[in-house]
Parts: sequence; C-alpha cells; structure tokens
Amino acid sequence: MHSFETGIAFTGSGSSVPSSSLSNDQMSRFVETSDEWISSRTGIQARQVATTSDSLTSLGSEAAQKAVESSGLEASSIDLILLATSTPDDLFGSASKIQAQLGATQAVAFDLTAACSGFIFAITTAAQFIRTGVYKNVLVIGADILSRWVDWGDRRTCVLFGDGAGAVVMSASSSDHFLGFEMRSDGSLNHCLTLAYDGDSNAQTLLDNVTVQKGTFAPIAMNGQEVYRFAVKRVPEVIEKALFRADLSIDAIDWLLLHQANQRILDAVASRLKIPAEKVISNMAAHGNTSAASIPIALDESIRAGSVKPGDTIAAAGFGAGLTWGAAVFRWGT
Ligand code: UT7
Repeated sequence: MHSFETGIAFTGSGSSVPSSSLSNDQMSRFVETSDEWISSRTGIQARQVATTSDSLTSLGSEAAQKAVESSGLEASSIDLILLATSTPDDLFGSASKIQAQLGATQAVAFDLTAACSGFIFAITTAAQFIRTGVYKNVLVIGADILSRWVDWGDRRTCVLFGDGAGAVVMSASSSDHFLGFEMRSDGSLNHCLTLAYDGDSNAQTLLDNVTVQKGTFAPIAMNGQEVYRFAVKRVPEVIEKALFRADLSIDAIDWLLLHQANQRILDAVASRLKIPAEKVISNMAAHGNTSAASIPIALDESIRAGSVKPGDTIAAAGFGAGLTWGAAVFRWGT
C-alpha cells in the first residue's frame, strides 16, 4: 500500500525587489504630494520600481531560486509552482517561464490571480495538494509589478505601490504546520479597486455588424476610504476564523503578518485583535504596497533578520481587489 505524509512544513523562503528605489521626496518632483502626507497617512517612505531590465519573470525567478536554495531541495524535486500575480509578463501566464528558469523540470506551473490576497490564496491552494498526497514539494510565489499599471499622475494611487516578489517552499511532512485558513470574496464591491479591461476605448470594427474589443487595461483605480474601511472590518474576522479552525487563541500568535497596504490598517487590525505592536511585522516603510508579494517579502526579510524563527506561529492575512480577503495560520519551519 502506498503511504504518504500529509502534514505540511514551511521549509524555505526568498525574495527579490528591483534595485531602483523612489523616495517620497523624489515622488513629489513629478506628482503633487509630499513626504509628510505619504508618511503620515500610510507609513510608506520608499518603494522599488521595476526598470526596463526587470520583469515579473526575473523578479519571481530570483525570489523562487532563493526559496528553493534555503529549503535544501533541488529544483527538480519541486512538483508544483503556483505564481500569485495580477501583473504577469504574459496574460497567458508567467509561471511556466519561471519553471523553465529554475530548471524545475518535473513541476507543473500555473498563475493564480487574487490581487493582494493572492499569496494567502496560493499557500492555501498549495496546502490542499499536499494534504491529499498528490504533491510533496510546492513552490509558492507572490509577485507583482504594479508600477506598469498605475497612473503616475494620480497621487491617490501612485504613491502607494512598489514592485517585488517573494516565495516559500511548502513540503509534505510528518508534522503539520498549516493550521487553519479562511478565504472570502465579495464581487459586489469589485468597483472599489480595479485594474480593469477597457475595451470600449479601443473597439475595432471588422464588418458592419461585428465590432471586437482590443486589449487595453485602464490604470489602477481605487476608492481608498472604502477599501480602508473594508480591510479594518473584514481582516480581523478572517483571522479569528482561521485561529478558531487552528484551535488557537490570539495569545498563541507570535507574529501578525498582514498585507503591507497601510501602517494605519496594520495598527487598527492589531488593536482590534489586541495583538501588541511588537508582534506586528511591518516593512512597508521600505517597500510600499507590493500587492501579492508583500506578505512573502515581509516574511522572508523577517526570517533572514532572525526575528521569525523556526516554530514561531504566524497569523497572516491578505486583502484587496476582488474584493478578496483571507487569512492563514501557520508555523514556520519543519
Ligand atoms: O492593496 C490593496 C488594498 N489597498 C488598501 O488597503 C488601501 C486602503 N486605503 C488607504 O490606505 C487610504 O485610504 C489611502 C492611503 C489610500 C488614502 O488615505 P486617506 O486618509 O483615506 O485619504 P483620502 O483619500 O481621504 O484623502 C484625503 C486628502 C484628499 O484631499 P481633500 O479632498 O481632503 O482636499 C486627497 O486628495 O488627501 C489628498 N491626497 C493626497 N495628498 C497628498 C490623496 N492622496 C494624496 C497624496 N499626496 N499622495
């Protein structure tokens, strides 16, 4: 009889951001804003933006390479690669190119889109494949290049975002460290945050009665206040649900790891959940909001800095366009 392990361990992490950085003061040279406004309203001080030599594939591959190296696995042992992104180099998907660059010859690879919730949804998806015994080693990447899609004249959005990629390796194990999750969507609020197809502006008439739409997307548009209110209300709920499923109390959490959208959101969620500030992971001052990459970049930096240690329990939550939101509670390490 075939036997397999269906516990889940987190065995490696990696991240990558572009080398080109933009400070708040630098931004105020081309859009009407100030360091004072951005710092006090968001906590962001700088963000990295992809240059012409960067791509979603190159950033994702670098983060993935580091994660695989730190897991101690060979790339050829990876069974599945999930790439959470809303900004692939190729609308058909970018995961396969990353698979090829890594030399992960045995892996099946595909993209998964859930905006800033993408990484949480992807590790949860990965966990299902490991639980069922289908795959042993899964590489999960969160990567986005939103700088390609913001309107650099719109101060309400362009100051918020940065580019980057982060990755983790999850492997089948005799002990189980993926403890609980909750994922949610509410498409009735879709209009609050969009990077949407803009066919009308580019229709092409082929025949009198046949007009097709050409591929064009309008830049990111967001109702910041609506999304803010949504995040502060909904994120604590899913964290509590995931903790309930994990049979853990708030006190058992070593780290609160939220999507890095706004320091005020992190503070408000932590305060609602009565989690002290020293347990809240925050790196948005240095990177801004990197969408699907923000959670794995913050996780990787905390692991490499030695603050997150093997055995630590992490409550992570993502939220954003869709609208989507979700939480996962897991323990770092094997
Ligand atoms: O990753 C996906 C999830 N996204 C989020 O979670 C974002 C959630 N929302 C937020 O973080 C906040 O709503 C923002 C940071 C986007 C905005 O902060 P806010 O405190 O909600 O500001 P606001 O939109 O209410 O704008 C206040 C004022 C407005 O001026 P008036 O109308 O009061 O004169 C804006 O025009 O601030 C102005 N403003 C700016 N001023 C200088 C907006 N953006 C800027 C800017 N620089 N960059």
